[in-house]
Amino acid sequence: MECRLANADQIAQAFAQVHVVWPHDPDPALHLEKRLASKQHQRASWFVIEDAGTVVCSLGAYPFQLFGPDGDRPARAFGAVFTPEAHRGQGHAARLISWVCEHYAEMGTLDFILYSDIDPAYYQKLGFQTLPSYEWAWDLPRSGPRVDMTVFPARPLDPELPGFRYGIRRQTADAIWVQEKQNSPLRLSRCLATGNWLLSRQDHGTYTLLESSLTQSASDWPELLRLMESDARQAGCHRVKGWWVSHEPRPEASWENVFKPRSQEILMWSSLRGAGDPWRADIGQHGFRALLSEHV
Ligand SMILES: CC(C)(COP(=O)(O)OP(=O)(O)OC[C@H]1O[C@@H](n2cnc3c(N)ncnc32)[C@H](O)[C@@H]1OP(=O)(O)O)[C@@H](O)C(=O)NCCC(=O)NCCS
Repeated sequence: MECRLANADQIAQAFAQVHVVWPHDPDPALHLEKRLASKQHQRASWFVIEDAGTVVCSLGAYPFQLFGPDGDRPARAFGAVFTPEAHRGQGHAARLISWVCEHYAEMGTLDFILYSDIDPAYYQKLGFQTLPSYEWAWDLPRSGPRVDMTVFPARPLDPELPGFRYGIRRQTADAIWVQEKQNSPLRLSRCLATGNWLLSRQDHGTYTLLESSLTQSASDWPELLRLMESDARQAGCHRVKGWWVSHEPRPEASWENVFKPRSQEILMWSSLRGAGDPWRADIGQHGFRALLSEHV
Protein backbone atom coordinates (compact mmCIF):
# COMPACT_ATOMS: atom_id res chain seq x y z
CA MET A 1 0.00 0.00 0.00
CA GLU A 2 1.77 3.04 -1.27
CA CYS A 3 1.26 6.69 -0.49
CA ARG A 4 1.14 8.69 -3.69
CA LEU A 5 0.02 11.81 -5.49
CA ALA A 6 -3.52 10.98 -6.65
CA ASN A 7 -4.49 10.58 -10.28
CA ALA A 8 -7.86 11.78 -11.59
CA ASP A 9 -9.63 8.47 -10.80
CA GLN A 10 -8.29 8.41 -7.26
CA ILE A 11 -9.31 12.02 -6.70
CA ALA A 12 -12.85 11.20 -7.85
CA GLN A 13 -12.95 8.18 -5.55
CA ALA A 14 -11.67 10.18 -2.57
CA PHE A 15 -14.13 13.02 -3.25
CA ALA A 16 -17.04 10.56 -3.47
CA GLN A 17 -16.02 8.95 -0.16
CA VAL A 18 -16.16 12.18 1.85
CA HIS A 19 -19.86 12.64 1.07
CA VAL A 20 -20.60 11.10 4.50
CA VAL A 21 -18.74 13.87 6.37
CA TRP A 22 -18.53 16.92 4.09
CA PRO A 23 -21.53 16.75 1.73
CA HIS A 24 -21.82 19.44 -0.93
CA ASP A 25 -25.29 18.09 -1.70
CA PRO A 26 -27.51 15.35 -0.25
CA ASP A 27 -27.38 13.56 -3.62
CA PRO A 28 -24.01 11.70 -3.86
CA ALA A 29 -23.75 12.21 -7.63
CA LEU A 30 -24.35 15.97 -7.35
CA HIS A 31 -21.96 16.12 -4.38
CA LEU A 32 -19.20 14.62 -6.52
CA GLU A 33 -19.91 16.96 -9.40
CA LYS A 34 -19.80 20.01 -7.11
CA ARG A 35 -16.67 18.92 -5.27
CA LEU A 36 -14.82 18.27 -8.52
CA ALA A 37 -15.83 21.74 -9.75
CA SER A 38 -15.09 23.51 -6.46
CA LYS A 39 -12.47 26.25 -6.65
CA GLN A 40 -11.39 25.46 -3.12
CA HIS A 41 -10.56 21.83 -3.83
CA GLN A 42 -9.00 22.47 -7.22
CA ARG A 43 -6.27 24.44 -5.51
CA ALA A 44 -4.97 21.49 -3.48
CA SER A 45 -2.69 18.66 -4.51
CA TRP A 46 -4.41 15.42 -3.49
CA PHE A 47 -2.65 12.43 -2.00
CA VAL A 48 -3.96 8.93 -1.36
CA ILE A 49 -3.17 5.49 -0.08
CA GLU A 50 -4.65 2.86 -2.38
CA ASP A 51 -5.23 -0.82 -1.63
CA ALA A 52 -6.09 -3.08 -4.58
CA GLY A 53 -7.82 -0.30 -6.51
CA THR A 54 -9.62 1.17 -3.49
CA VAL A 55 -8.64 4.50 -1.95
CA VAL A 56 -8.24 3.81 1.78
CA CYS A 57 -7.07 7.29 2.86
CA SER A 58 -6.84 10.74 1.28
CA LEU A 59 -5.93 14.35 2.00
CA GLY A 60 -5.48 17.67 0.23
CA ALA A 61 -2.36 19.84 0.56
CA TYR A 62 -2.92 23.53 -0.22
CA PRO A 63 -0.02 25.83 -1.14
CA PHE A 64 0.44 28.86 1.12
CA GLN A 65 3.19 31.24 2.05
CA LEU A 66 3.87 32.05 5.69
CA PHE A 67 5.57 35.19 6.95
CA GLY A 68 7.62 35.64 10.08
CA PRO A 69 10.04 38.22 11.47
CA ASP A 70 12.94 36.52 9.68
CA GLY A 71 11.27 36.19 6.27
CA ASP A 72 8.80 34.11 4.30
CA ARG A 73 8.47 30.34 4.17
CA PRO A 74 6.65 28.09 1.69
CA ALA A 75 4.00 26.02 3.46
CA ARG A 76 1.24 23.51 2.84
CA ALA A 77 -2.09 23.44 4.64
CA PHE A 78 -3.68 20.02 5.02
CA GLY A 79 -7.41 19.69 4.51
CA ALA A 80 -10.01 16.91 4.27
CA VAL A 81 -7.94 14.17 5.91
CA PHE A 82 -10.21 11.16 5.48
CA THR A 83 -10.16 7.38 5.97
CA PRO A 84 -13.33 5.42 5.10
CA GLU A 85 -14.81 3.82 8.21
CA ALA A 86 -13.94 0.24 7.23
CA HIS A 87 -10.25 1.14 6.99
CA ARG A 88 -9.82 3.24 10.15
CA GLY A 89 -7.48 2.53 13.03
CA GLN A 90 -4.75 0.99 10.87
CA GLY A 91 -2.46 4.01 10.87
CA HIS A 92 -3.33 5.10 7.31
CA ALA A 93 -3.95 8.79 8.05
CA ALA A 94 -0.83 9.04 10.24
CA ARG A 95 1.28 7.40 7.54
CA LEU A 96 -0.13 9.55 4.75
CA ILE A 97 0.41 12.82 6.67
CA SER A 98 4.03 11.90 7.50
CA TRP A 99 4.67 10.78 3.93
CA VAL A 100 3.27 13.99 2.43
CA CYS A 101 5.36 16.08 4.85
CA GLU A 102 8.49 14.20 3.78
CA HIS A 103 7.50 14.56 0.12
CA TYR A 104 7.33 18.37 0.48
CA ALA A 105 10.40 18.51 2.71
CA GLU A 106 12.43 17.07 -0.18
CA MET A 107 11.34 20.11 -2.20
CA GLY A 108 12.19 22.56 0.59
CA THR A 109 8.78 23.04 2.21
CA LEU A 110 9.18 22.47 5.94
CA ASP A 111 6.10 24.17 7.40
CA PHE A 112 2.61 22.69 7.58
CA ILE A 113 -0.64 23.92 9.04
CA LEU A 114 -4.09 22.41 9.47
CA TYR A 115 -7.42 23.21 11.09
CA SER A 116 -8.37 20.29 13.28
CA ASP A 117 -11.99 19.26 13.64
CA ILE A 118 -11.00 16.40 15.93
CA ASP A 119 -9.14 16.19 19.24
CA PRO A 120 -5.83 17.99 18.51
CA ALA A 121 -4.04 15.26 20.49
CA TYR A 122 -4.22 13.16 17.32
CA TYR A 123 -2.19 15.65 15.31
CA GLN A 124 0.09 16.46 18.26
CA LYS A 125 1.32 12.88 18.09
CA LEU A 126 2.30 13.62 14.50
CA GLY A 127 4.38 16.66 15.47
CA PHE A 128 1.79 19.44 15.14
CA GLN A 129 1.47 22.06 17.84
CA THR A 130 -1.76 23.86 18.71
CA LEU A 131 -1.70 27.63 18.14
CA PRO A 132 -4.05 29.91 20.04
CA SER A 133 -7.27 30.14 18.02
CA TYR A 134 -10.59 31.60 19.10
CA GLU A 135 -14.04 32.10 17.66
CA TRP A 136 -16.87 34.45 18.56
CA ALA A 137 -20.62 34.45 18.01
CA TRP A 138 -23.68 36.17 19.43
CA ASP A 139 -27.30 36.84 18.64
CA LEU A 140 -27.85 40.33 17.32
CA PRO A 141 -29.76 42.79 19.49
CA ARG A 142 -33.07 43.53 17.74
CA SER A 143 -32.19 47.15 17.11
CA GLY A 144 -29.08 49.28 17.03
CA PRO A 145 -27.46 52.23 15.28
CA ARG A 146 -27.57 52.14 11.50
CA VAL A 147 -24.34 52.93 9.67
CA ASP A 148 -24.51 54.12 6.07
CA MET A 149 -22.65 51.61 3.92
CA THR A 150 -22.43 50.79 0.26
CA VAL A 151 -22.71 47.12 -0.62
CA PHE A 152 -20.70 45.75 -3.52
CA PRO A 153 -20.53 42.38 -5.18
CA ALA A 154 -17.41 40.79 -3.70
CA ARG A 155 -14.09 41.44 -5.36
CA PRO A 156 -10.51 40.72 -4.27
CA LEU A 157 -9.18 42.91 -1.49
CA ASP A 158 -6.19 42.72 0.76
CA PRO A 159 -7.01 43.18 4.45
CA GLU A 160 -3.29 43.87 5.23
CA LEU A 161 -3.78 43.84 9.02
CA PRO A 162 -0.54 45.18 10.42
CA GLY A 163 0.79 44.01 13.77
CA PHE A 164 1.15 40.31 13.16
CA ARG A 165 4.58 38.77 13.45
CA TYR A 166 3.53 35.46 11.90
CA GLY A 167 0.84 34.19 9.61
CA ILE A 168 -0.35 33.43 6.11
CA ARG A 169 0.81 35.97 3.54
CA ARG A 170 -1.96 37.09 1.23
CA GLN A 171 -0.81 36.98 -2.37
CA THR A 172 -2.73 38.26 -5.39
CA ALA A 173 -3.81 34.80 -6.54
CA ASP A 174 -4.93 34.01 -2.98
CA ALA A 175 -7.15 37.08 -2.88
CA ILE A 176 -9.12 35.85 -5.90
CA TRP A 177 -9.23 32.29 -4.61
CA VAL A 178 -10.41 33.39 -1.16
CA GLN A 179 -13.54 34.83 -2.72
CA GLU A 180 -14.16 32.23 -5.42
CA LYS A 181 -13.84 29.35 -2.95
CA GLN A 182 -16.79 30.36 -0.74
CA ASN A 183 -19.88 28.36 -1.47
CA SER A 184 -22.28 31.25 -0.84
CA PRO A 185 -22.75 34.69 -2.33
CA LEU A 186 -20.52 37.21 -0.59
CA ARG A 187 -21.25 40.69 0.63
CA LEU A 188 -18.67 43.44 0.59
CA SER A 189 -19.78 46.51 2.55
CA ARG A 190 -17.87 49.73 2.83
CA CYS A 191 -18.55 52.44 5.37
CA LEU A 192 -19.22 55.72 3.54
CA ALA A 193 -17.66 57.83 6.27
CA THR A 194 -14.42 55.93 6.88
CA GLY A 195 -13.88 53.60 3.92
CA ASN A 196 -13.53 50.61 6.25
CA TRP A 197 -14.91 47.43 4.72
CA LEU A 198 -16.27 44.05 5.76
CA LEU A 199 -16.41 40.88 3.65
CA SER A 200 -19.07 38.45 4.84
CA ARG A 201 -21.17 35.45 3.98
CA GLN A 202 -24.81 34.95 4.96
CA ASP A 203 -26.14 31.46 5.62
CA HIS A 204 -29.66 30.94 7.00
CA GLY A 205 -29.69 34.22 8.94
CA THR A 206 -26.12 33.91 10.25
CA TYR A 207 -23.66 36.58 9.20
CA THR A 208 -20.12 35.18 9.05
CA LEU A 209 -17.36 37.80 8.97
CA LEU A 210 -14.68 36.51 6.60
CA GLU A 211 -12.31 39.47 6.75
CA SER A 212 -12.20 43.21 7.21
CA SER A 213 -9.90 46.20 6.82
CA LEU A 214 -10.30 46.69 10.59
CA THR A 215 -8.03 44.72 12.88
CA GLN A 216 -9.46 42.88 15.84
CA SER A 217 -7.53 44.98 18.32
CA ALA A 218 -8.86 46.65 21.42
CA SER A 219 -8.79 50.00 19.63
CA ASP A 220 -10.56 48.84 16.43
CA TRP A 221 -12.99 46.35 17.95
CA PRO A 222 -15.78 48.83 18.90
CA GLU A 223 -15.83 50.22 15.36
CA LEU A 224 -15.76 46.74 13.83
CA LEU A 225 -18.66 45.77 16.06
CA ARG A 226 -20.66 48.86 15.10
CA LEU A 227 -20.21 48.28 11.37
CA MET A 228 -20.77 44.56 11.58
CA GLU A 229 -23.97 44.66 13.59
CA SER A 230 -25.42 47.32 11.33
CA ASP A 231 -24.38 45.46 8.19
CA ALA A 232 -25.68 42.13 9.48
CA ARG A 233 -29.05 43.70 10.31
CA GLN A 234 -29.27 45.27 6.87
CA ALA A 235 -28.50 41.86 5.39
CA GLY A 236 -31.45 40.41 7.32
CA CYS A 237 -29.36 38.30 9.71
CA HIS A 238 -30.04 37.58 13.38
CA ARG A 239 -26.66 36.17 14.40
CA VAL A 240 -23.01 37.11 13.80
CA LYS A 241 -19.97 34.90 14.01
CA GLY A 242 -16.31 34.84 13.10
CA TRP A 243 -12.78 34.05 14.18
CA TRP A 244 -10.78 36.16 16.60
CA VAL A 245 -7.73 36.92 14.47
CA SER A 246 -5.55 39.41 16.27
CA HIS A 247 -2.02 40.04 17.41
CA GLU A 248 -3.51 41.11 20.74
CA PRO A 249 -4.88 38.78 23.42
CA ARG A 250 -8.63 38.30 23.10
CA PRO A 251 -10.80 40.72 25.08
CA GLU A 252 -11.52 39.55 28.59
CA ALA A 253 -14.24 40.31 31.11
CA SER A 254 -17.58 41.17 29.53
CA TRP A 255 -16.70 39.32 26.31
CA GLU A 256 -15.95 36.05 28.03
CA ASN A 257 -19.16 34.40 26.86
CA VAL A 258 -18.77 35.26 23.22
CA PHE A 259 -15.04 34.57 22.71
CA LYS A 260 -14.24 30.89 23.01
CA PRO A 261 -11.31 28.69 22.13
CA ARG A 262 -12.29 26.94 18.92
CA SER A 263 -13.73 23.48 19.33
CA GLN A 264 -13.45 22.94 15.58
CA GLU A 265 -11.10 24.40 13.00
CA ILE A 266 -8.40 24.49 15.69
CA LEU A 267 -5.28 25.99 14.16
CA MET A 268 -2.19 23.76 14.27
CA TRP A 269 1.31 24.11 12.89
CA SER A 270 4.21 21.77 12.33
CA SER A 271 7.77 22.57 11.38
CA LEU A 272 10.34 20.04 10.22
CA ARG A 273 13.17 22.41 11.21
CA GLY A 274 13.56 20.73 14.57
CA ALA A 275 13.53 22.03 18.13
CA GLY A 276 15.81 24.92 17.18
CA ASP A 277 13.24 26.53 14.86
CA PRO A 278 13.25 30.19 15.98
CA TRP A 279 9.48 30.45 15.33
CA ARG A 280 8.60 27.66 17.74
CA ALA A 281 8.46 29.45 21.10
CA ASP A 282 6.83 32.62 19.79
CA ILE A 283 4.28 31.11 17.47
CA GLY A 284 2.49 29.19 20.18
CA GLN A 285 1.83 32.35 22.18
CA HIS A 286 1.16 35.20 19.79
CA GLY A 287 -1.51 35.69 17.18
CA PHE A 288 -1.08 33.94 13.86
CA ARG A 289 -2.70 35.67 10.92
CA ALA A 290 -4.97 33.02 9.41
CA LEU A 291 -8.34 34.42 8.39
CA LEU A 292 -11.60 32.53 8.27
CA SER A 293 -11.78 33.26 4.54
CA GLU A 294 -8.59 31.19 4.05
CA HIS A 295 -9.80 28.14 5.96
CA VAL A 296 -9.36 24.84 4.05
C1 LIG B 1 -9.55 11.11 11.75
C2 LIG B 1 -9.30 10.02 10.69
C3 LIG B 1 -8.78 10.66 9.42
C4 LIG B 1 -8.27 9.04 11.24
O1 LIG B 1 -7.99 8.11 10.21
P1 LIG B 1 -7.26 6.69 10.52
O2 LIG B 1 -6.66 6.21 9.25
O3 LIG B 1 -8.16 5.80 11.23
O4 LIG B 1 -6.14 7.23 11.51
P2 LIG B 1 -4.97 6.43 12.21
O5 LIG B 1 -5.15 4.95 12.00
O6 LIG B 1 -3.70 7.06 11.82
O7 LIG B 1 -5.22 6.80 13.70
C5 LIG B 1 -6.29 6.26 14.40
C6 LIG B 1 -6.42 7.10 15.62
O8 LIG B 1 -7.24 8.22 15.29
C7 LIG B 1 -8.06 8.46 16.38
N1 LIG B 1 -9.24 9.20 15.97
C8 LIG B 1 -10.15 8.88 15.04
N2 LIG B 1 -11.14 9.80 15.04
C9 LIG B 1 -10.83 10.68 15.99
C10 LIG B 1 -11.48 11.83 16.49
N3 LIG B 1 -12.66 12.25 16.01
N4 LIG B 1 -10.86 12.52 17.49
C11 LIG B 1 -9.68 12.12 17.97
N5 LIG B 1 -9.03 11.03 17.56
C12 LIG B 1 -9.62 10.32 16.58
C13 LIG B 1 -8.43 7.05 16.82
O9 LIG B 1 -8.93 7.08 18.13
C14 LIG B 1 -7.09 6.35 16.75
O10 LIG B 1 -6.35 6.58 17.94
P3 LIG B 1 -5.20 5.58 18.46
O11 LIG B 1 -4.12 5.62 17.41
O12 LIG B 1 -4.79 6.18 19.74
O13 LIG B 1 -5.87 4.26 18.55
C15 LIG B 1 -10.62 9.22 10.40
O14 LIG B 1 -11.18 8.82 11.63
C16 LIG B 1 -11.65 10.00 9.62
O15 LIG B 1 -11.63 10.01 8.39
N6 LIG B 1 -12.59 10.67 10.29
C17 LIG B 1 -13.66 11.44 9.63
C18 LIG B 1 -13.11 12.68 8.93
C19 LIG B 1 -12.38 13.61 9.88
O16 LIG B 1 -12.90 14.00 10.93
N7 LIG B 1 -11.14 13.99 9.49
C20 LIG B 1 -10.31 14.86 10.26
C21 LIG B 1 -10.60 16.30 9.95
S1 LIG B 1 -9.55 17.39 10.88
